[in-house]
Amino acid sequence: MTVKLFEPYTLKNVTLKNRIVMSPMCMYSCENEDGIVNDWHRTHYTSRAVGQVGLIILEATAVTPQGRISPQDLGIWSDDHIEGLADLVRMIKSHGSVAGIQIAHAGRKAELEGEIVAPSAIAFNEKSKTPKEMSKEEIKETVEAFKQGVLRAKKAGFEVIELHGAHGYLINEFLSPLSNQRTDEYGGSAENRYRFLKEIIEEVKSIWDGPLMVRVSANDYHPEGLAPEDYVQFGKWMKDQGVDLIDVSSGAVVPARISVFPSYQVPYAQKIKEEAAIDTGAVGLITSPLQAEEILQNGRADLVLLARELLRDPYWPRRAAKELGAKIESPKQYERGWN
Ligand SMILES: Cc1cc2nc3c(=O)[nH]c(=O)nc-3n(C[C@H](O)[C@H](O)[C@H](O)COP(=O)(O)O)c2cc1C
Repeated sequence: MTVKLFEPYTLKNVTLKNRIVMSPMCMYSCENEDGIVNDWHRTHYTSRAVGQVGLIILEATAVTPQGRISPQDLGIWSDDHIEGLADLVRMIKSHGSVAGIQIAHAGRKAELEGEIVAPSAIAFNEKSKTPKEMSKEEIKETVEAFKQGVLRAKKAGFEVIELHGAHGYLINEFLSPLSNQRTDEYGGSAENRYRFLKEIIEEVKSIWDGPLMVRVSANDYHPEGLAPEDYVQFGKWMKDQGVDLIDVSSGAVVPARISVFPSYQVPYAQKIKEEAAIDTGAVGLITSPLQAEEILQNGRADLVLLARELLRDPYWPRRAAKELGAKIESPKQYERGWN
């Protein structure tokens, strides 16, 4: 049996050395509140590259200051951000990993001073601020901000772009009828709720021809919300627009009780892969090498994304290779201790 976890995978024109992906994780570590990369980010991301992760996706990185989840988020709203990000790309690449970045806007989930924006003036919960409903002009400006963010990511040298369409942030707020109650062409039917994401993808595609991923929340866990079937349709539209892979997460558009267990989101990744005929990534409580291998061998997803397990063990790929009997390269400095 060949170990699938360590088989290379080609995403459009970029080949990953294995199928292990570091899932985007906010570090809330820009102490100066300027969105600029600092030593924490350099150490954190480079460690996982040394650990032989195939693709490292940087945390949600905000396209506008107002689109940050917290004041300490990474940013990509100004050219001043490019230098630090380029430094990270160089460090990640120097260990043979591919550098990706998650481009994001927090919408109504921004926990910031001042005004926050969303498709409709509906607060996330009773403790959160009520957002201002975006005007069409603001929608246009935000689509443009996503495009400019991707352009800066390209200048910084990233090879993979992921748009953050999950977890109840701005794009997800447009998609879900629970958070989008607009009566114009951005609300109502599925086509209309998809329009914001559609326009972002269109603009991004005009300046970016590398691999494009979109992270979605495939289940709102609410009777009036979106279910995996809805994301099969969105998946087909994304595929038609040239999206290469859908990274399938779930939840967080509205507060909900979710029962979580190992691989709980994998069936959504499998459904979208099979029914929309697009490659998918699986994420959520994937912790053991055999579990990751099962997902790939059974064709339930094309990539596995790990978040918290990679916080616990930046060298997880090494452990996985040992357990699955695969041989992987070590950084040459570590050869004496690696195998
Ligand atoms: C500290 C932390 C920060 C996170 N930040 C992000 C983020 O920036 N973008 C995102 O899409 N998901 C984020 N997530 C969710 C993870 O990417 C992942 O989907 C989730 O933790 C489930 O995977 P796991 O069980 O392997 O941890 C974050 C999770 C953690 C633990």
